[in-house]
Amino acid sequence: MLDSKDVQRWPELGDMPAEEFRETLHRVADWVVDYRESIEELRISPDIAPGEISARLPQVPPEAPERFSDIFRDFQKSIIPGVVHWGHPAFFGYFGSTTTATGILGEMLMGALNVSAMTWRTSPSATELETLVLDWLRQMLGLPMDYTGVVYDTASVAVMHALAAARENLGLNARAHGLCGRPEVPGLRIYASDQAHSSVEKAAITLGIGEQNVRRVPCETTYRMDVSTLRSVIDTDLRAGLLPMAVIATVGTTSTTSVDPVDEIAALCDEHRLWLHVDAAYGGAMALLPEGRSVMKGVEAADSIVVNPHKWLFVPLDFSALYLRRPELLRATFSLVPEYLRGDAEQAERNYMDYGIQLGRRFRALKAWMVIRSFGTEGLAARIREHIRLARLFASWLDADPEFELLAPVTMAVVCFRIAPHGLGTRQAVNQELNAFNRRLVEAVNRTGEAYLTYTTLNGHTAMRLAVGNILTTERHLAKAFDLIRRETARIGAAR
Ligand SMILES: Cc1ncc(COP(=O)(O)O)c(C=O)c1O
Repeated sequence: MLDSKDVQRWPELGDMPAEEFRETLHRVADWVVDYRESIEELRISPDIAPGEISARLPQVPPEAPERFSDIFRDFQKSIIPGVVHWGHPAFFGYFGSTTTATGILGEMLMGALNVSAMTWRTSPSATELETLVLDWLRQMLGLPMDYTGVVYDTASVAVMHALAAARENLGLNARAHGLCGRPEVPGLRIYASDQAHSSVEKAAITLGIGEQNVRRVPCETTYRMDVSTLRSVIDTDLRAGLLPMAVIATVGTTSTTSVDPVDEIAALCDEHRLWLHVDAAYGGAMALLPEGRSVMKGVEAADSIVVNPHKWLFVPLDFSALYLRRPELLRATFSLVPEYLRGDAEQAERNYMDYGIQLGRRFRALKAWMVIRSFGTEGLAARIREHIRLARLFASWLDADPEFELLAPVTMAVVCFRIAPHGLGTRQAVNQELNAFNRRLVEAVNRTGEAYLTYTTLNGHTAMRLAVGNILTTERHLAKAFDLIRRETARIGAAR
């Protein structure tokens, strides 16, 4: 431990003097609270051109040390103007924002400790808390006891690891020999619906399986995978001498939050001995609600499941939990102990570095543990329930207005819709015009800085997409967004 004399030497050693650090931390803490308190006064997305922010900043690193007060001033003056305020309660893009006060505090404490959770010995609390939090989350989601979890940064990285384990499960020993130059290895196939997330292709690219070996299976009208088509696609591949490897079923697809018929897909996987990965990155949070648990029907048959608490469980980015029934397969795929870590690695049964490509790992469990404790499972469930209520309320306003059309059922907290203003029909011939109008409308709404939406394409129709995910969002924000959409519709319509 540093004695008081050493503390005096901090500046000489290159760090900020302790007293200045204390004062600065208070100042930054005040700024963070003020930012959260007044966030509604800020325009959500900046009105700037690409390159404008970097043009304001020195292009070469400073040679001499700079004072934090100067750095902080530039942060406010030059960086903040280029920030999209995801924490704004009228930010309805993607899956909303998971900023919470406890989450911010957790991130700050993680930064203060800055440990690496690679082996148990490199920080026993980090490993043991990761195991504990994963088990809490498993219980919260109602998953069986025999699932073991690992924390990654994102669901994209989680699916890559799940599919690496699936590949090892084929007995090809791809870990040792790779896939190239092996004529005895047939082409591998992965199946996912046409609504599944693009991370599946990225995983296939990374694992040497190839983007084109991800077969996208069409959906039924409500954007759920059509299982009879899946069956026939698998049969065709088998007849062509290909090797089906895995199916991705999604609980809460990115565009509409539709839920694939996981139980039927699981039965098919069982028949063909295929790995079943369930992407519940967003929708898994529904399982916290007794009335929402049905979305997870059949999930208990999965070989792997991913849930992202950073999407809808109020843990700040990033935190993704992958559960596996046979974690030993993942370990067999990735465990590789360099000599300099051998002493560490022998200290414990669970060293999380063995379950992925990453060696250094953040102490993510700390913030998740704090968030779960500060809300309690009841508090988390109440927020999710409220978000669903708000999304349905917004959908009811659209329903009551003949100019609007819902383009997908509202199953979670996302609403997909379009407007067909008077003067524009809904017939096929005008679909293109309608698509262009709805895209322009989203851009116009976002340009106001008062709300933020995204758009997607559903069955050839451009859909505006509104996602509720911020605990500070209330009916008032939705009403304002609805008014804004109508106001901008009138404005763009008049300018047509
Ligand atoms: C259903 C689904 N799966 C996976 C992902 C990828 O998540 P991440 O950003 O954590 O990689 C997303 C992202 O939105 C998603 O919607």
